[in-house]
Amino acid sequence: MLKIKLAPSILSADLSKINQEIKEIEKYADLIHVDVMDGIFVPPTTVDSNFLRTIKTKVPLDVHLMVHEPSNSYIKGFIDAGAYSITIHEEACRDPAKQINFIKKNKTKAAISIKPNTSLDKIIKYIDIVEMVLIMTVEPGWAAQKFIESTMPKVRELRKLKPKLDIEVDGGINPYTARIAFEAGANVFVAGTSIFGKKDRVAAIKEILNSLR
Ligand code: DX5
Ligand code: ZN
Repeated sequence: MLKIKLAPSILSADLSKINQEIKEIEKYADLIHVDVMDGIFVPPTTVDSNFLRTIKTKVPLDVHLMVHEPSNSYIKGFIDAGAYSITIHEEACRDPAKQINFIKKNKTKAAISIKPNTSLDKIIKYIDIVEMVLIMTVEPGWAAQKFIESTMPKVRELRKLKPKLDIEVDGGINPYTARIAFEAGANVFVAGTSIFGKKDRVAAIKEILNSLR
């Protein structure tokens, strides 16, 4: 069985006390998911690589770049700041292989993501060169949106093609939708609002994990 990984998304955390926020949940986190938005690929802007440097944790940092055509030096900034994995978007890059190869050359895990309306066909040529695929389960850009269940056939199909690949889902994940995505074949679960939006975050995490048993 593939390892189930939980990746709390700090998009919904209080960034002014990020290390305190992470400390509260890090015992239960396999990855810390960091959403980077550029105001171009998606309307909002969020954190940059300087912010990544201020994060103090032993949990690997899973950097999700919602960024139009990220350059090598831009990507390198995140690698130098401590990224463990970097996800780029198929829709954001003219030739995603360029970014994927650069990330891998720099000894960092590379992943590719597709938005809910992008078909799996668009990334078939990359699934043998990446360490993870992120199937977005909401439109990228905002937290607290509703899980789009019609993305699940892509997870199912990808799992059939790649039995051992890490398949990540991101957006609207809670105990109920995590189970749906798990049954479709996902094994990496990003969750923002359903963890950081709760008063008892450890209880919220346990609820998600329990739903995946
Ligand atoms: C959305 C981001 C997500 C976001 C998920 O563009 O990629 O990582 O934090 O937030 P929730 O879990 O609230 O849907
Ligand atoms: Zn994300």
